[in-house]
Amino acid sequence: MTAGDVKLTDRQKKIAAERLYEAYLKTVDGRLVVVSGATRSGKTAYVRGQVRKDRRVIAWDPEDQWSRLPGWKRVTSRKELLALAQRPGPVRAGFVVGGKLQDEFDFWAACMMYAGRYVAPIVAIAEELADVTTPSKAPGAWGILLRRGLKRGITIYAISQRWSEADKTAVGNASEFVLFRQSSGDDVRYLSRKTRVPESELAGLMQLQYVRLSAIDGAISRGKLTF
Ligand SMILES: Nc1ncnc2c1ncn2[C@@H]1O[C@H](COP(=O)(O)OP(=O)(O)O)[C@@H](O)[C@H]1O
Ligand SMILES: [Mg+2]
Repeated sequence: MTAGDVKLTDRQKKIAAERLYEAYLKTVDGRLVVVSGATRSGKTAYVRGQVRKDRRVIAWDPEDQWSRLPGWKRVTSRKELLALAQRPGPVRAGFVVGGKLQDEFDFWAACMMYAGRYVAPIVAIAEELADVTTPSKAPGAWGILLRRGLKRGITIYAISQRWSEADKTAVGNASEFVLFRQSSGDDVRYLSRKTRVPESELAGLMQLQYVRLSAIDGAISRGKLTF
């Protein structure tokens, strides 16, 4: 028998393809961007600007905002969301559901992990996190997405009005913070402690103004949204 006669089984071919794909994904690191600010401070508008050019974006969209944007799809069932997560190619969709929000959020996070790990790099936007997480360690699939997603080429925008009440896993793993005007002194103190941006600077922000901090190199930049 010569080397040319060696045939891979289907299972071996599948494993080889997965290894290749994982090696490819390892070269495309994602980012975890923690976005914080009071209601109407500019969080959603900022992220909208950031993802404008991304090809694959799916939002956890409890307020039904993303799904109304031009070119975006509204997804209202788990079945539809899973189908989207399994499909390669461009996607822009908001997952809009009622019922037990924590369970639906967990399902959304699992779909994002699947899409990024097995299909192609994706951007996951999680809105209003204080509604579905608690200050302790991030639960279930969301926790897995936060801890392992970046290495799978998944970029996550984690958005909340109240980070002092949202989960600590996101803050602990953030590669970037974008801080708008905060809704409470508790949030100013908490975020200042986590980022070392002075409390006075955070407390002085006006609507649509933000401070952006890289958790990787400590670089700080400042800006104001315009429309
Ligand atoms: N495309 C737009 N044109 C004009 N104003 C906008 C636009 N998008 C958002 N805004 C305004 O910017 C402010 C911040 O909005 P948004 O980013 O949705 O706030 P939030 O922090 O609650 O997510 C709001 O007052 C909103 O009305
Ligand atoms: Mg918003």
